[in-house]
Amino acid sequence: MAIIQFPEGMKWGTATASYQIEGAVNEGGRGTSIWDTFSKTPGKVVNGDNGDIACDSYHRYEEDVELLTDLGVDVYRFSVAWPRIFPNGTGEVNQEGLEYYHRLVDKLIEKGIEPMCTLYHWDLPQALEDKGGWNNRETIDAFVQYAELMFNEFSGKIKSWLTLNEPWCISFLSNYIGAHAPGNKDLQLATQISHHLLVAHGLTVKKFRNLGIEGKIGFAPNTTWLEPYSNRQEDIDACNREIGWYIEWFMDPVFKGNYPEFMLDWFKKKGVQLEIKDGDMEAIQQRVDFLGINYYTGHIARYKENSGLLDWELVEMNYDRTDIGWPIFPEGFYNVLMRIKESYGDIPIYITENGSCYNDEPENGQVKDNGRISYLQQHLTALSRAIASGVNVKGYITWSLLDNFEWAEGYSMRFGIVHVNYRTLERTKKDSYYWFKQTIANNWFEN
Ligand code: BGC
Repeated sequence: MAIIQFPEGMKWGTATASYQIEGAVNEGGRGTSIWDTFSKTPGKVVNGDNGDIACDSYHRYEEDVELLTDLGVDVYRFSVAWPRIFPNGTGEVNQEGLEYYHRLVDKLIEKGIEPMCTLYHWDLPQALEDKGGWNNRETIDAFVQYAELMFNEFSGKIKSWLTLNEPWCISFLSNYIGAHAPGNKDLQLATQISHHLLVAHGLTVKKFRNLGIEGKIGFAPNTTWLEPYSNRQEDIDACNREIGWYIEWFMDPVFKGNYPEFMLDWFKKKGVQLEIKDGDMEAIQQRVDFLGINYYTGHIARYKENSGLLDWELVEMNYDRTDIGWPIFPEGFYNVLMRIKESYGDIPIYITENGSCYNDEPENGQVKDNGRISYLQQHLTALSRAIASGVNVKGYITWSLLDNFEWAEGYSMRFGIVHVNYRTLERTKKDSYYWFKQTIANNWFEN
């Protein structure tokens, strides 16, 4: 038994995203997003599920804020559905959409919870996708306009902003692997989109500074860790490519003003021709106030010639896995944070997502999700090691407050610390909720 103590002032929170929880897709003047289209395309989402109702948080947000209040969080990270604000992506503003987020934010503030707003958690207005989506540079301008409106509208209320959630998923997962909306399978397209996303991020940060908005702004890249199977250079290089695809590809441009050479060379070998316009790199390299880090899993891997995009293969070492099949790899969390510190210095970091999938159901009103508690304990222990090693961690935000629409997995995979019955929409606090509540209250836990 050991006490894992967190520094004074550590911020605790939970996260959600608009399409995953709101439902009410045809209400309040909301326009269509690429996830409405994708989820209704046969074969794209498990069981043909979609976000039409989800957790119905559009109507039940007060109940959700109650859950947060009782949990005792400092921060709630949520995202805004762009098509609720601009149903067509640009042009006319939908007041009803703004009013919904005012109601939510006002309620949070009333309860003493700091709102942390993600501007883009994947629900691109379909009208923009119809004109080429993120491959069209007009989408960059549309995003900056949308962000500007949000900054002005919520100035003084929302003081923590994230531009993009997981640009790797928006570009490569959605446009090269094709598992998420819009579902393209084209490496050239995906890589170009990754660049446009970074430009959109940078110009948004610039806009935020020029407007003189009070508060902090950052972005939330997703990370992973591959531990080399051996110390052979080819194993180390193969793992570095995978990690670099998530970390350096998206962070070097922001913090150093250029793409990592080893990844540029690799993509070039694969036939990618990245188009970078004059001024793009300068636009991307804006100072951010903090970095959001999302981490879930890692693996052990080794070099394998002609294997996938980056020439590596997993080595099965029988790590325990969560119900979605992802290995539990807390040492990867520590290593990711150390790598970021070594490369980019002491930028303040919020863990903007970390959590696990366990599909336990209520029995007599109780959800015994011991797997999730253990996952949290292991990852928070790794986090406290990183803090002891000097990583400038300001907060920890778990994914997720609620079971919700898990993208291509539909409702089959549950990540919440609160169970949602998708038939009745009833919320049930899981054992992990009570464990997290105690940890927040103490600012430590015993493992
Ligand atoms: C995303 C969430 C998602 C979670 C679990 C992250 O990649 O930001 O929206 O639900 O992982 O898959």
